Amino acid sequence: AAASTLGAAAAQSGRYFGTAIAAGRLNDSNYTTIAAREFNMVTAENEMKPDATEPQRGQFNFGSGDQIYNWATQRGMKVRGHTLAWHSQQPGWMQSLSGSSLRQAMIDHINGVMAHYKGKLAAWDVVNEAFNEDGSRRQSNLQATGNDWIEVAFRTARAADPSVKLCYNDYNIENATYGKTQGVLNMVKDFKSRGVPIDCVGLQTHFTGGSSLPGNFQTTLQNFASAGVDVALTEVDVTNASTTQYQGLTQACMNVSRCLGITVWGVRDSDSWRSSESPLLFDGSGNKKAAYTSVLNALN
Ligand code: G3I
Repeated sequence: AAASTLGAAAAQSGRYFGTAIAAGRLNDSNYTTIAAREFNMVTAENEMKPDATEPQRGQFNFGSGDQIYNWATQRGMKVRGHTLAWHSQQPGWMQSLSGSSLRQAMIDHINGVMAHYKGKLAAWDVVNEAFNEDGSRRQSNLQATGNDWIEVAFRTARAADPSVKLCYNDYNIENATYGKTQGVLNMVKDFKSRGVPIDCVGLQTHFTGGSSLPGNFQTTLQNFASAGVDVALTEVDVTNASTTQYQGLTQACMNVSRCLGITVWGVRDSDSWRSSESPLLFDGSGNKKAAYTSVLNALN
């Protein structure tokens, strides 16, 4: 029988369907009613990022991250951790570091946050958005600590919590022939050949801001899977919630056995970081949009 919610429909094939949750919206009952009904995976939209979790060096704050974690797990949902090492949303003290002191701060941050959530999460986005569009490395303060910073982050993460899946997460890696996609794929192959621990790649799948679903999306997912990692669509939104694009991205995941699940980047259009593009599955009043039905049908 066809399931009537996104999470239940995805679960029929052993997958999940998730959403980003913002702690500041957990007192909005329209929001929480939809989120609790439809989804079975949660990502904290901002609350587990470095600026939120380590506002002062060595002083960790898990208040809002735990609020989301507890809300989700009390409702039987799982949680993806987002994110440990990123050029953006660093606390001010981290932005001012460089070289070996920044490298050590990154390691300490990974250890501090992962110790708190040890054994509790489905996956961590260990490193986020580290590549340029042409497939070279982004010139961030983290990159300036040495080209090995990504593998150091993954090795640190594996030691900190051997039970959690370790993901690399990025946007504009959905087109198989695109430079950035190839750069990330080459990194995965290199890590696999040298025994650097990596379990998954998160394709953010922001088909907003001028991007759209490429015809070779399923090939991209399969290419990562063939390199030996699981894949997930981690931050999905689509300009004007195109039903064909939502259907296509969902079907691509369904067609790749190592595609573990799909997360949309917010609940209602009004919750989106790009709300002017109305890119989500529920309108501002919480009504199901046509794209909701196209996703549900593809999952079923
Ligand atoms: O909470 C403050 C509020 O107190 C203040 O009044 C207001 C004024 O600007 O800012 C609020 O913080 C904002 C925060 O979102 C919470 O709404 C920040 O300015 C704003 O920068 C932040 O944006 C987040 C963005 O990441 C930052 O990089 C978005 O919510 C979040 O959706 C977005 O998520 C990222 C993923 O982590 C990585 N991939 C891309 C994705 C979209 O940009």
